[in-house]
Amino acid sequence: NGNYLVSLIEGDGIGPEISQSVKDIYAAANVPIDWEPIDVTPVLVDGKTAIPQPAIDSIKKNLVALKGPLATPIGKGHVSLNLTLRRTFNLFANVRPCKSIVGFKTAYDGVDTVIIRENTEGEYSGIEHHVVDGVVQSIKLITREASERVLRYAFQYAESIGKNKVRVVHKATIMKQSDGLFLELGKNMAKQYPAIQFDYELLDNTCLNMVTDPTPYNDKVLVMPNLYGDILSDMCAGLIGGLGLTPSGNIGDECSIFEAVHGSAPDIAGKALANPTALLFSSIMMLQHMGLNEHATRIQKATFDTLAEGKYLTGDLGGKAKTHEYAGAIIDKL
Ligand code: IPM
Ligand code: MN
Repeated sequence: NGNYLVSLIEGDGIGPEISQSVKDIYAAANVPIDWEPIDVTPVLVDGKTAIPQPAIDSIKKNLVALKGPLATPIGKGHVSLNLTLRRTFNLFANVRPCKSIVGFKTAYDGVDTVIIRENTEGEYSGIEHHVVDGVVQSIKLITREASERVLRYAFQYAESIGKNKVRVVHKATIMKQSDGLFLELGKNMAKQYPAIQFDYELLDNTCLNMVTDPTPYNDKVLVMPNLYGDILSDMCAGLIGGLGLTPSGNIGDECSIFEAVHGSAPDIAGKALANPTALLFSSIMMLQHMGLNEHATRIQKATFDTLAEGKYLTGDLGGKAKTHEYAGAIIDKL
């Protein structure tokens, strides 16, 4: 039928409910997409957690996937499925924009930040050792290859969205070798992009400055090693109303997976209390990535209007609406 096929990982907990909202809104907006639901329940390959082959094939064929939250087991011996997905498809850049929603009041107005997080290594490389009793090691791995790749992407992304500043966020004063290399490669990369202003800032300063006044960050793209991006992007989400509102895209050379950053919220699963906005906004990033800009803009506007109107907000935003009532209000505005 000429529609695009997109792989859909509904996810655990609230995942199916918020995925349903996205599907309903897309159907109402006549988005030319057919969903291909995939099961990513891990399998063991050579004793290691792996994505089942049919799911891998689906994403490689469709090039894009939308993903709901997957529960992350904590502790020894468990490998996060989220990380396995990022690794399997070599999704090297995690793009996390964070924009204030007009009409939805938080402590800050006019926030418009973008974090680009290295997505394959750093503290997330999974290299950990129990040395002797009471002594453990977690290795922070930084390589030139992965760093250059994400830095290049940050400069290109800045160009593409018309922000003309790139800032590396680092802690090279302490992580002299690892962050030192990342920063050095950033400085070198900047020479290839003379139209973009480059600078760098210590992570702790960034945190202090951002919660004092986030607006000086609006004209910049921030790029940083994996764990810093994980933490700082949650802080940014807090500036605009929480993880229920912020999208993210895991970008690779081959394919890309767009996902809500929040967890699977098992405590409210199945009760129609979840906020589907983060997944919906992630899907809008996906539409833009696919070049379906008109559909993206239309759904985005209907969502912004619904949030600004404030009549059908979910509980996390201080409202009383059920997930499907909120989605219904968006559909009414399409
Ligand atoms: C995120 C999440 C993940 C991460 C978890 C679920 C593994 O917090 O996407 O930010 O730490 O990267
Ligand atoms: Mn996180």
